[in-house]
Amino acid sequence: MPLTQTAQAVLGSAEVQPLARLFADDPDRVARLSGELAGITFDFSKTHLAPSLIDQLPGLSEAAELPDALDRLLSGAIANPTEGRAAEHPAERGSGSPDAVQLSASRRQRKRALIDAVEAGAFGDVTGILHIGIGGSALGPALLVDALGRRERRYKVEVLSNIDGQAFDAAVVDLDPATTLVAIASKTFTTAETLRNAEAALEWLSEAGVEDAYGRLIAITAAPERAVDFGIDETRILPFAESVGGRYSLWSAIGFPAALALGFSAFEELLDGASEVDEHVRTAPAEKNLPLIAALSDRLYADRLGAETRAIFAYDERLRLLPSYLQQLVMESNGKAVTINGAALERPSSAILWGGTGTDAQHAVFQLLHQGTHLAPVEFVAVAEANDEQDPAHHRELLLNAFAQGAALMSGRASDDPARNYPGDRPSTTILLQRLDARTLGALLAFYEHRTFCEAVLLGINPFDQFGVELGKDIARAIDDPEQRASFDPSTRALIEKAGL
Ligand code: F6P
Repeated sequence: MPLTQTAQAVLGSAEVQPLARLFADDPDRVARLSGELAGITFDFSKTHLAPSLIDQLPGLSEAAELPDALDRLLSGAIANPTEGRAAEHPAERGSGSPDAVQLSASRRQRKRALIDAVEAGAFGDVTGILHIGIGGSALGPALLVDALGRRERRYKVEVLSNIDGQAFDAAVVDLDPATTLVAIASKTFTTAETLRNAEAALEWLSEAGVEDAYGRLIAITAAPERAVDFGIDETRILPFAESVGGRYSLWSAIGFPAALALGFSAFEELLDGASEVDEHVRTAPAEKNLPLIAALSDRLYADRLGAETRAIFAYDERLRLLPSYLQQLVMESNGKAVTINGAALERPSSAILWGGTGTDAQHAVFQLLHQGTHLAPVEFVAVAEANDEQDPAHHRELLLNAFAQGAALMSGRASDDPARNYPGDRPSTTILLQRLDARTLGALLAFYEHRTFCEAVLLGINPFDQFGVELGKDIARAIDDPEQRASFDPSTRALIEKAGL
């Protein structure tokens, strides 16, 4: 494919200079390799992106037909060809076909009306929400509520995803069944874990003496007819479009618990922040386009320098769920071995994403980052303004630690003692939010979505399908069927027997 070949040729021939050299050669490197967007500073200067590579971005973007691909995505044309449909999450924030944008807006009003009804007492006294969903139907709402609702949260929100009964026990321990609403979030409304947990929630309500347990349920889904079959009244179903992928769905009705807990206007600010990034990725020149520069850096490390992973560390407790949210976004989107045309992908797909929170991670996994043999580009995400009630020294030290790690990874420290030698020249990107609020979080998450999309375009793959998860689901069903079990391999049969299943 021409676009893949172009990207490969550009990256393959890119000269990779040590970071110290890149800084020495260009006194303006920080300004050149940094950008501001929606109250966020993105600093790519400690990556191995050379000015000559950035200069090639406009040509690379054209050769990869990225402007056309973005136009398709943001206008609601078909962007997911293997499933023959658009990817309409941008319509939730105003970019898409006029029909999709209008439908999203009217569904948002439906969500607002339900929130108003809860607030007006239509469900009696409500103190908490048990939000049940998994993958994209859980990770986004959990992140939003955890990130933005620490100081002020109008309702207690528990997000339950795992089928493990212990997860259920833990989720309900602080909820009062008499004053809890249960939101069942599933795009397909067929996901086994979610339906099992929904049944358990009904039992939990009934056993506590709630008379109309079904009357406490809200469904959030792209398959409203299945929610009705489950027994949920049509008036309590919040629909969203089939063309909104699970890992891109927090902007849609899936964000209901966040909109309820944080307030509807906060949710609208989240959408506004994302919309600013939609506009940026569509209109900024390639050499200033922040998601594209980030994607280029991702391809440089994965393609040219063989990095198999990249790590994200949130230097802010409010963003502790960001790495797991991004794992689904990146790995479910770009963990593919075929191109959009079905040919074998002859390059590494997206790197494995992992991470944690700083400073905790410094005392656990940073040894490998500083001295291990693996190349693992690191991303620091930090917030300039504190949000705690402690001595300002806490936040100051938190930020200084983040910056010190980036500096140390880059500079290293030579020692005659090999065990004490730090080679340095290890790359990092720093993303610094001035403050964390709904708007900046929306912008940050949209930045990551577009970075993932730009990387998919440079790779020539479709980021919007996820057939790779289907086999495991099929086999999980088959393994519970005694007749089909006989055809399983001896190791699996022995394990089933050992566990007494
Ligand atoms: O199994 C993967 C997946 O399909 C994700 O893509 C999705 O976010 C998740 O399961 C949950 O699916 P649903 O919202 O249909 O329950």
